Amino acid sequence: MRRPHVFITRRIPETGVRLLQAACDVTAWDDDLPPSYDTLRAQAQDCDGLLALLTDRIDAALMDACPRLRVVSNMAVGFDNIDIAAATARGILVGNTPDVLTEATADLAFALLLAAARRIPEGVDVVRADRWQTWGPLLLLGRDVHHATLGIVGLGRIGQEMARRARGFSMRLLYADPTRKPAVEAELGIAHVPFEELLRQSDFISIHAPLTDGTRGLFGAQAFAQMKPAAILINTARGPIVQTDALIAALREGTIGGAALDVTDPEPLRADHPLVNLSNCIVVPHIGSATMQARGRMSELAARNILAGLHGALPPACVNPSAAGTGRQAQPRDYEI
Ligand code: DGY
Repeated sequence: MRRPHVFITRRIPETGVRLLQAACDVTAWDDDLPPSYDTLRAQAQDCDGLLALLTDRIDAALMDACPRLRVVSNMAVGFDNIDIAAATARGILVGNTPDVLTEATADLAFALLLAAARRIPEGVDVVRADRWQTWGPLLLLGRDVHHATLGIVGLGRIGQEMARRARGFSMRLLYADPTRKPAVEAELGIAHVPFEELLRQSDFISIHAPLTDGTRGLFGAQAFAQMKPAAILINTARGPIVQTDALIAALREGTIGGAALDVTDPEPLRADHPLVNLSNCIVVPHIGSATMQARGRMSELAARNILAGLHGALPPACVNPSAAGTGRQAQPRDYEI
């Protein structure tokens, strides 16, 4: 009886790899850059489990090219790179890595808020370029963070952690979310408002919503026109929630004050991209969860999702539990685990 085969689509922290190796034959894409779609499809064709990243497109065609595939585990909380409906229809379980990266991502979102408000990257540039001549009463004046209004779009796990950090800075808190959360409102002193109201009232707006048909392009020219002219937009969620051309125009024309982006559309951005070169925009390369601890936990949870799925159980973090017991999992086992 063979052991199950798991394909890992990139170099990832060792914790998860070791867990998988103990029970499975593991092959991994040994590169810091992702495999192309065709390469991934070819590499994964005989795998039973696939540990994927947000840079991998896992669609119906890929699933059909991997007839043994029983479980896909995304080492990310977001799973917009995976066709969940197609996976469910085929009885393929899909896992993700929520919770273990919540605070790390909120830390980065708040760091971006502070960096943009207090113009930290511009200050670093001044010193590095040897342009620091004296203490200047008008040098690099930023915006107060304390007592300013923060609007949170999407009050899920990461949005709530962002609110907790903002409370420590005495910020006034608003949120827009299709689901109202009275218990969280009471705990965090955060008020639910319609999206347009949040746009109008906020000094800082931080996006923490998933990328769905409902949030794609949510921030475009119309939204920017309703924001305060000094408002700063922070995005650590998914790039396509913001319309890139509209953002460039809003930043250039002063419709809004600034932006701080961990995610962009497209990704990556080249150094000559307008967003990279606007002084009122900070761009970092999608590093929201990039702490050694968070990535270690993500690697471990991603592996545990795979192992559970290969055992015919529900992954500890499963995004399509309705796939359980249907389709491919109903087939007799042809490996030993
Ligand atoms: C996620 O998990 O979805 C982040 O974008 C990367 O950690």
